[in-house]
Amino acid sequence: EGGAKEQALLPHVPPQSPGSSSQFLPASQQCPDPPGGVSKRSGKIVERLLCERAPRAVLELGTYCGYGTVLMAAAMPPGARLYTVEPNLQHASVAEKQGRGAEGGAVQVELIVGRSEEVIPQLRAQHGLHSVDFVFMDHWKRCYLRDLRLLEEHGLLADKATVLADNVVFPGAPHFLQYAKTCGKYRCRVHRASLEYCRAIPDGIAELCYNGAR
Ligand SMILES: C[S@@+](CC[C@H](N)C(=O)[O-])C[C@H]1O[C@@H](n2cnc3c(N)ncnc32)[C@H](O)[C@@H]1O
Repeated sequence: EGGAKEQALLPHVPPQSPGSSSQFLPASQQCPDPPGGVSKRSGKIVERLLCERAPRAVLELGTYCGYGTVLMAAAMPPGARLYTVEPNLQHASVAEKQGRGAEGGAVQVELIVGRSEEVIPQLRAQHGLHSVDFVFMDHWKRCYLRDLRLLEEHGLLADKATVLADNVVFPGAPHFLQYAKTCGKYRCRVHRASLEYCRAIPDGIAELCYNGAR
């Protein structure tokens, strides 16, 4: 079961009735900018880009309690697949409960309990994921660069794949940003988005477009 903070969020989880992901969203939003969850501003950017790109396979690194997962599932096209990775069993347990509320949606969601560095190399063999069109990095910032390189090394990024990385300004992921801007494999821009738990602190979400699959 989840920790006290995560369990406290469960009253905001709607009853486990049949319903689509989109039916689930208003209940989640009763808890605005949940501590540790994706901020509203970043969430809007993620939603907009998912609607524009209509990816078939999406990977989220860092599920926490599943706010981003539910938001993304609602914005993805029918028949698409969403893989979300979380090593913390307590967080995964709460996310799993949230996910049950979203059952019946048109998107297939797979919650993988494990660390990104162990899961990414196994995605093809163990989860049948051969290439990913859209990645949402929202775990520990120090892992962003390592995991981007892992995705490249394992040939998992589709041509023109979108990689979104949250909180790249604060607390920041300077090595990740520097690599993305200079390695020649990505077009990179940073959208402004304030920090989820303190709006006064400016932050940003990086959008990378992969062109290195040629
Ligand atoms: C900021 S929260 C994620 C918020 C979530 N994406 C949302 O929208 O609500 C960061 C999460 O990353 C998880 N995490 C930490 N290290 C990780 C790793 N190596 N792989 C995957 N997830 C990790 C943490 O346990 C935590 O639940």
